[in-house]
Amino acid sequence: MISINISDKSFWDIKSEGYLFLLEEDFKITSLMDVIENECCPNLSEVLKKNKFEGKIGQSYVLTGMKDGKLVQFVFVGLGSSYLEWAKRLENFRRASDKLVKILKNLKISNSVLSISDLYEKNDIKISEIIKQFAIAANMADYNFTTFKSGKKEEFNFSISLTDGNSEVMIKEKALLEEFLFEGNVIGRSANMSRHWCDLPPNILTPTFFAQEIASIAKKSGLRFDVFGREKALELGMGGFCAVDSGSEQDGKFVILEYKTSKKDAPTIGLVGKGLTFDSGGLSLKSSSGMSEMKYDMSGAAAVVAVIKSIAEMKLDINIVAVAPVVENMPGGKAFRQDDIVTFMNGKTAEIKSTDAEGRLVLADALCYIQKFYKPKTIIDIATLTAAVAIALGHFYAGLMSRDENLVSELQEAGNISGDKVWRLPLDDDYFPSIESDVADIANAGRPTYSAGTITAALFLEQFVEKDVSWAHLDIAGVAHAHPLVKGSTGAGIRLLAEYLLKLSK
Ligand code: BES
Ligand code: ZN
Ligand code: ZN
Repeated sequence: MISINISDKSFWDIKSEGYLFLLEEDFKITSLMDVIENECCPNLSEVLKKNKFEGKIGQSYVLTGMKDGKLVQFVFVGLGSSYLEWAKRLENFRRASDKLVKILKNLKISNSVLSISDLYEKNDIKISEIIKQFAIAANMADYNFTTFKSGKKEEFNFSISLTDGNSEVMIKEKALLEEFLFEGNVIGRSANMSRHWCDLPPNILTPTFFAQEIASIAKKSGLRFDVFGREKALELGMGGFCAVDSGSEQDGKFVILEYKTSKKDAPTIGLVGKGLTFDSGGLSLKSSSGMSEMKYDMSGAAAVVAVIKSIAEMKLDINIVAVAPVVENMPGGKAFRQDDIVTFMNGKTAEIKSTDAEGRLVLADALCYIQKFYKPKTIIDIATLTAAVAIALGHFYAGLMSRDENLVSELQEAGNISGDKVWRLPLDDDYFPSIESDVADIANAGRPTYSAGTITAALFLEQFVEKDVSWAHLDIAGVAHAHPLVKGSTGAGIRLLAEYLLKLSK
């Protein structure tokens, strides 16, 4: 477990096992590093050069030396070029922080100190934001999934002190900086909680178990929690939810979480997360390679739980209601079929062209439910919805679809600050004929001649959103897992939505 603190002592006055340096490509030996040269390594720049450390992103070098008669480690990590725009530099800072934390864990450096003064001085980013982003990145770097490794597992506890060159800012703004550090810790830890659920295997994280886990988090965070299963879903007329649920031995759960601020007239934001604990494709069965990693099909649900938990812990002046249909898509004897027609909670019907396009079916009912009982003016849904989004955008941007220009720019901005990036795809009616059906209101899968499966899925969902609601759809199928830089679950969408809501509430 990592713990981060803000220190008002100056860098070298903090007694540590590790002294950390994040250096840009064109770095110079600063007065801070003079100490290393004076005490134990007369020619630091030559040493770094000889060891091919040039400050590039991904590079690192560890030098062991003496300070005050004790063996210490000087850890250098590259920050990349300084000639990049701020969002890219902030991302490189997060990646360098990730690398740093992994080195500390690997070398078992229990306490260390990092100076962040040159970072914010050179960037157009406030020191408070730097601290928040460090806390998020460092906590997320500390995550690993070892639950099912049977060998000896020891939790490594370590601390990092953040300091400023002259400590003036640290003293003057201590309360504000502590608040941002707290926010960063909350978001990073909530993301790790969500990633753990995502990484759990589908035989363990069944809908029943997942709902219990969410209930226990709700209790700890003071959130209102409600859940119902098949019977009530049937009563409510949730034909989409019930169809997907029907092929599994596991009873599906519809989960509702609510956070309320005491502030009068605060807006209510609705969050909807896709919670397929496993997506076999149902009777439109996936190939075995297509089925692997389908335990991650509940990443949207795990994300909305992490977000509402973060908001509750930060006590933001905003109301949130989060709903998650949590089900398993299986081809059992009672499974729904191709050619079936299902009727959703709002009376609309859909012809089933593929039982593998199940996400939009459960989300359609979830959208109806949240609007009927909570009437939020803004709704954001988040789902591992289509393989097509990974073809379009790969693993670095989630697909964003919305007709609300304001909401789009707010989410894009939150993406750029948090590094949890989104790219807008057109929600254009030209694509709509793709999901027209001869026998029902719409079809649940697009015609192949139209391609653009990510957009047609969004157009399907839009049929369940009332015209006066500001709505955005996030397709995280490309970013939630299988990321080239992250093992297992990435926690996609959590940093994005937490940042968006933080800004909205302030
Ligand atoms: N859960 C999948 C989407 C997915 C695919 C997520 C790959 C992560 C990685 C979704 O339910 C699905 O199967 N979608 C189909 C829809 C199609 C049948 C219209 C798809 O994208 O192929
Ligand atoms: Zn599917
Ligand atoms: Zn799915």
